[in-house]
Amino acid sequence: MDDSELEYETIFSVIDSWEQLRRVKDYQNVAGSCLFVKLFEKCPPAKVLFGFPIDMDPQSEEVGKSKRFQTHSRYMIQMLDRALGLLGPDEELLLEILERLGKTHARIGVHPQYFPFMEEALLETLQECLGSNSFTPELEHNWKLVYAVLSGNIIKAMNGEQLVLESWAKLSKMENYEEEAGKLLFQEMFRQCPESKTLFGFPIDMDIDSDAILRSRRFKTHSKYFIEMLDRALKMVKAQEMDQHMKQLGELHAEFGVKPEFFPIMGDALFMTLKTLLEEDWNDDLKGAWGDFYGRLSSQMIAAIKASKNTKQ
Ligand code: HEM
Ligand code: HEM
Repeated sequence: MDDSELEYETIFSVIDSWEQLRRVKDYQNVAGSCLFVKLFEKCPPAKVLFGFPIDMDPQSEEVGKSKRFQTHSRYMIQMLDRALGLLGPDEELLLEILERLGKTHARIGVHPQYFPFMEEALLETLQECLGSNSFTPELEHNWKLVYAVLSGNIIKAMNGEQLVLESWAKLSKMENYEEEAGKLLFQEMFRQCPESKTLFGFPIDMDIDSDAILRSRRFKTHSKYFIEMLDRALKMVKAQEMDQHMKQLGELHAEFGVKPEFFPIMGDALFMTLKTLLEEDWNDDLKGAWGDFYGRLSSQMIAAIKASKNTKQ
């Protein structure tokens, strides 16, 4: 689902009511804390995700005074501010933001089942802040349509990320997985792109099954580095943290002489490796989800290589 399914009138009435809410004094804190108290009442496990004990009274002073609670309450309202502003004019950017939010939420441990509770909490908050006269059944209906688009896109990205995380968890339980996956990956990379062998100090015509390659310390080290890097990237909760990391890695790769056109080949080699190791668990959905993840990593690295002055010609 995307926001092109929303009618102009629906978007307009929702934005109009949001403008009204923005006129409430200190609206980010007022609406944000109202929303989260309601969410915690409806969905106690959500408290744990914010660092509170599950049996903590959501109305207690301790919750209200917590910095994390206040910050996140504001974040959520700011995000709605931003999302509503983009809903008509910049659908593409909005979808990208929601996709990133979905990935972050999957890694934090938010479940798709929590989203209907957030919806109820949001609708009740709007009703309280705007008053029943303004918050008509028609407006409520329009808000539901908009929330469905926002949460639908977040959940779609969460589901994809969950597939990647679960398949990786399975793979990392296999004996010697780093070495095994690294070996398959680079053999395939070298098969598809013999030129890349030279970056690791091997002659371009060297046999990829030869002992000299497989035993080489440099080959083994890089295979392991690559897999460890994927492991680390999968544990990074914030999208910005991962992007930043990949940019730096891209700059290093420019110095190593890695060309942007090597990345799609590496991507195919990675899919081949996962397919071989995961066997019947590998399917088109998983391939799509891994494609999104690898796409994010490699696009940051490629951008850094293209921008780098250190690129070897
Ligand atoms: C349309 C729905 C939602 C929106 C727009 C939204 C928005 C956000 C934003 C903007 C952040 C900050 C992300 C960052 O720092 O990069 C965030 C973090 C978070 N969200 Fe949501 N969220 C939504 C639904 C939910 C739901 C349903 C839950 C759980 C019940 C949830 C739990 C969290 C948690 C635990 C964090 C991390 C907060 C921290 O570490 O302090 N969110 N959310
Ligand atoms: C998302 C993709 C990739 C990731 C996550 C990745 C990861 C890494 C890491 C973590 C290092 C070690 C950096 C350090 O020394 O601190 C490294 C080095 C290196 N990478 Fe990659 N890499 C990727 C793609 C590629 C591609 C496509 C090539 C070209 C075929 C490549 C070739 C190299 C080379 C030549 C080195 C230096 C190795 C050495 O000096 O022995 N990498 N990579």
